[in-house]
Amino acid sequence: MGELDMLRNEIDELDRELAEVLEKRMNVVMRIMEAKKRMGIPVFNREREHEVIEKVGSYVENKQFRDEIESILQKIMACSRKIQSEYLFPYHIVLVGFMGSGKSTVAGEMAEMLAKKSVDLDQLIEEKQSSSISDIFKHEGESAFREMEKDLVKDVTAMDETYVISTGGGVVLDEENVLNLKQTGVIVWLKTSAEEIYHRISENKERPLLRDDMSVEKIRSLLEQRMPLYEKAADLVIDTDQKTVKEIGLEIVKKLGSVSNDGEN
Ligand code: S3P
Repeated sequence: MGELDMLRNEIDELDRELAEVLEKRMNVVMRIMEAKKRMGIPVFNREREHEVIEKVGSYVENKQFRDEIESILQKIMACSRKIQSEYLFPYHIVLVGFMGSGKSTVAGEMAEMLAKKSVDLDQLIEEKQSSSISDIFKHEGESAFREMEKDLVKDVTAMDETYVISTGGGVVLDEENVLNLKQTGVIVWLKTSAEEIYHRISENKERPLLRDDMSVEKIRSLLEQRMPLYEKAADLVIDTDQKTVKEIGLEIVKKLGSVSNDGEN
């Protein structure tokens, strides 16, 4: 056997060991998840991940390889999060709420925490139409936008992979959207006060429904009209006033443990 063949055999053997060790590791991850659930301890804990990565780095003799091995471990940890979240939350997590309630930011946080992909419906519409939402409202009107939104809700909720879905504030105006979202997802309402919303979005000129009157009063009146719709659609309600994105993300994960999707809720 030539030298190269021998080395390749050696690598094959190491890869086999690696696969075995990774499989064992994933099995232990699932057992940890079950134990945490039984004890009522949060399953997702990013602080612990940093500790583990540092510890593993300290086992690596060759300093030149340390960073690479740490980044492989980071990937392994993300895979663990994905396996756990697919098991715990095998459905879309749908964020609804008024403009400025933090849907997109919280979706990013949740996607990172649960290693799920996130999709932003407004952003997808903008990409598909090669136009901003405010231009779509201006040139084609709100009803054309609502049709696009409705078609997209149908497409996204029918996909096999489960996502964190961040919706536009008006998605609940259409009952069929809510039914479709509920078919394959759990709907989380990010509930935010008119004052807090004003505080968050008053500088932003991109919201067509508030372009002519950006005031707490206008926000309050729109919010009051929509409140019953959010309330009716929601499987979970999270108050977001005075909370950080991380706090909101953790609260959602904790509360999701107590609701499930059976396609009929
Ligand atoms: C809308 C909210 C917007 C966007 C569109 C209509 C609404 O999304 O879909 O301007 O009716 O509340 P955000 O809630 O993400 O701003």
